[in-house]
Order: sequence, then C-alpha cells, then structure tokens
Amino acid sequence: MAKPIVILGVFVADTAYRAQRQPRIGETLLGNGFKLGPGGKGSNQAVAAGRLGADVSFVTRLGCDPFAEMALATWKEAGVKPAVIETPESYTGAAYIFIEEGTGNNAIIVSPGAAMLISPADIDRHAGLIRSAGVFVTQLEQPVDAAIRALEIARGAGVTTILNPAPAASLPERIFALCDYVTPNETETEEMTGIKVESVEDARRAAEAFLAKGAGAALITLGERGALLHDGRRSELVSAVTAGPVVETTGAGDAFNGGFAVGLSRGLDPLDAVRFACAVAGISVTRPGTAPSMPSLAEVEALLARF
Ligand code: RIB
Ligand code: NA
Repeated sequence: MAKPIVILGVFVADTAYRAQRQPRIGETLLGNGFKLGPGGKGSNQAVAAGRLGADVSFVTRLGCDPFAEMALATWKEAGVKPAVIETPESYTGAAYIFIEEGTGNNAIIVSPGAAMLISPADIDRHAGLIRSAGVFVTQLEQPVDAAIRALEIARGAGVTTILNPAPAASLPERIFALCDYVTPNETETEEMTGIKVESVEDARRAAEAFLAKGAGAALITLGERGALLHDGRRSELVSAVTAGPVVETTGAGDAFNGGFAVGLSRGLDPLDAVRFACAVAGISVTRPGTAPSMPSLAEVEALLARF
C-alpha cells in the first residue's frame, strides 16, 4: 500500500513568455508567444504526485483572487488535497518565466505573495497531517523557518523527508540533519556547496559536502545526464530518459521530485524511485508548461518498460 505524501510549498500562476532573448533595462521586446498556467514548485510537485495516483496533500497559503481559483481547479483535476490557509491580506503569487526560443531554456522570477506569509505557527496547525504522511517534501519558495518546522515535525514522526532546495538559499546548517534526501540541481548545488558541477565526479564531491552537513543522502539532478544518488554507502548515476523531443524543461525538477516522492511512497528501493523520477521528468520535458505537463502513471510505466 502506498503511503500518503504531504508537500509544503507555493502555488503561483506561471506567465510564460517565449522570446529570442530577455529585454535589457529600458528596452521593450516583442515576444513570440505567451501562456498562462498553474505553477509554483511545491504545487507542481503535488500535481505530479496526484497525476501518478498518489494520496497527496498540499500545505500552503493562497490569496482570495482568480489565481487562487486556478490553484484549486488545478489540484481538483490532479487529485491533490488542499490544506490551504486563505490570506485575503495578500495575493496569490505569480511567476515570470522567460523561455528562450530554440533552446527551451528558462529564466524565472517568482513572487510568492500569500505563501511568503507561511509561518511555523501555520505548520503547527497542520502538524497532524504531516505526522500521518509516509513521505514529506518541501522546497525553498516559502520562508525557511516554516520549512524547518515542518521537517522537524516530519522527522519526529519518522516520516521520510525530502528537501528540494530550490531556489538555492543560504540555510541554517541544522536543516540538513532533518533531511533524508536533499535534491538540488547543478546550479543549486554550486550555490550551496561552492562546488561547480561540470562532471559526475564534481557531483560526487558536492554530494559528500551535503552528507558532511548532515543530510542522509544527496540526490543531485544533472539535467540531460540524469541524477546522482549518493548516500555514503552507494553512489549511483541514473541516466535520464526522454520520451521524445524536448519542448520545455521548466518544471522538470518538480516532475522529478514529485516522481521521487511517489516512488518512495510506493515502497520502491531509492534507486528504483530515482529511475521512476527520471521517467516522470523525461515525459514532462516533451510537453509545454509545468504542472500541465505532468504525466499519468500509465505513461510513466510505458516509458520505463522501454528501457
Ligand atoms: O520549477 C518551476 C517553477 O518554478 C515554475 O512553475 C515557477 O512557478 C517557479 O516557481
Ligand atoms: Na514541461
């Protein structure tokens, strides 16, 4: 039986612009496309887990506005259970996403709005929910003190904890000892360890640094190379899989983290959970959007069967 997943994080509306390049200060550029859709790292991870059939709850704050309605509709469609504190004094966040024409690479500004007000006291209100989980996941778009409180509660109840340290931030060192898995990408790894990740060997050294800080394991995502799982006992590179031509990589990390949480919640061995996560991400990059590009369980199983 799969165990419940609880995710703490942020929902924002993604406003995605396609253009040749980003404008300079004072400049106006014509873009080649625009799309509005659901986003936010935590919400994307919850949607990924929901689409994969997991029992998933999402803890956050929302404003009382049209983007909040978008959030609730998105979660309903994906089967995500909202644990939301309504926050009329603020707004539901939004992200500016620049997508580079040709490469599909992105640059993002996220303004989390109401989710910036998530406090340790809010987390205490959801302590029972967090304790009842098999797997708990959070990121760093909401305040760090809330993430720490939630990780403490999860850890105290023996829940498997995953910290996706995105966007990178300078963190109090004690957070790492609360994490069974820390799952940065290459950029976040460099910002948090000072080690530039150009090779798998670099990733191994950086993983050691996360272990030295107290993390149970480091799971470093390496883009098209795949992901490195390093827990002190074993250090394995799992190759990326792609389901077809890459359309948009935004949200691939969220697909990966949501997929990894689902793999663990289904009782997979951590390395198999990484393979599962790579397949989820490998499908998401072949479709536009972040949350809308998350695959179903059947799609992931079909892709895994090909490898
Ligand atoms: O990880 C991708 C997400 O980061 C986007 O959906 C955007 O909202 C930003 O938060
Ligand atoms: Na995508």
